[in-house]
Amino acid sequence: MSFKVNTSLDGKKVILLGAGQIGAKVLDYINEFDTEVLIIDIDKPGNIKEDNQFEHFDCTKLDKIASTFENVILEFGVPDFFINASYPKNSNWANCDFDNQNSLDTIENINFHLGSYTVLSKIVCEKMKSADVSGSVVLLNSIYGIVAQDEELYAEEKINMSVPYPVIKSGIGGLTRQLSSYYGKYGIRINSICSGGIKGKVSGSEADMDNSFAEKYLKKVPLRRMATTDDIANMVCFLGSDASSYITGQNIPVDGGYSVI
Ligand SMILES: NC(=O)c1ccc[n+]([C@@H]2O[C@H](COP(=O)([O-])OP(=O)(O)OC[C@H]3O[C@@H](n4cnc5c(N)ncnc54)[C@H](O)[C@@H]3O)[C@@H](O)[C@H]2O)c1
Repeated sequence: MSFKVNTSLDGKKVILLGAGQIGAKVLDYINEFDTEVLIIDIDKPGNIKEDNQFEHFDCTKLDKIASTFENVILEFGVPDFFINASYPKNSNWANCDFDNQNSLDTIENINFHLGSYTVLSKIVCEKMKSADVSGSVVLLNSIYGIVAQDEELYAEEKINMSVPYPVIKSGIGGLTRQLSSYYGKYGIRINSICSGGIKGKVSGSEADMDNSFAEKYLKKVPLRRMATTDDIANMVCFLGSDASSYITGQNIPVDGGYSVI
């Protein structure tokens, strides 16, 4: 007996928002297929291929993101696959820590990140619906969209627990469920990936993760290793492919088991 798993993305039109640590790896994977790809980001990624298209896009321009994104889709065409791997934040993001939160920065960052994820996902689903495209939307979530930050991991570390981050990521979980509930009848699927900590940079900063934090974190991970960008890119591509055609509305942990303990 043999069976065929269709994980190909061949023939798909793809819009990738955010080609940073995770998005750049996703781009490498997608470029292995025969796809038409548009990357939108505040900065042009280094690993962009000659036949990739790029448009400058700033998720913090809240008064313009809807119309700009609609124009992007008008020019490129309605995608079969939309991935949001962006990390929009203001210049005081590091100050939104649990003990010393600045309330205006907290509110602004929730608006930039959760606000843009919400508005752009709704627009792309609506465009897929109007164009009769049975598309897939994948949003980058986090384990902190499903479990709280453990205070003991952060004690005496340079990185702090955050007020807005778990709020933003839990909101993306609700957004995923709500959009999938409505757009399912049009064959449109929406899922989020609850990524565990990636080996290397601290998410949302240029700093490498301290060993002391990583050691404590890994004691809580059944597989005893950090995530890699390959772990996440594999799940992104699976969710964009027809192999996942009966999966929607899920906030899927890719976390080495962190969230089960
Ligand atoms: N890296 C991790 O450990 C980790 C873990 C869990 C979840 N995540 C989530 O994955 C996503 C991507 O994380 P990452 O580690 O790749 O982050 P990153 O900072 O490496 O990349 C983020 C990308 O978003 C772009 N961006 C930032 N501000 C923008 C704006 N205003 N408008 C448009 N684009 C903007 C950046 O230019 C960059 O390409 C984020 O949503 C993050 O919360 C990351």
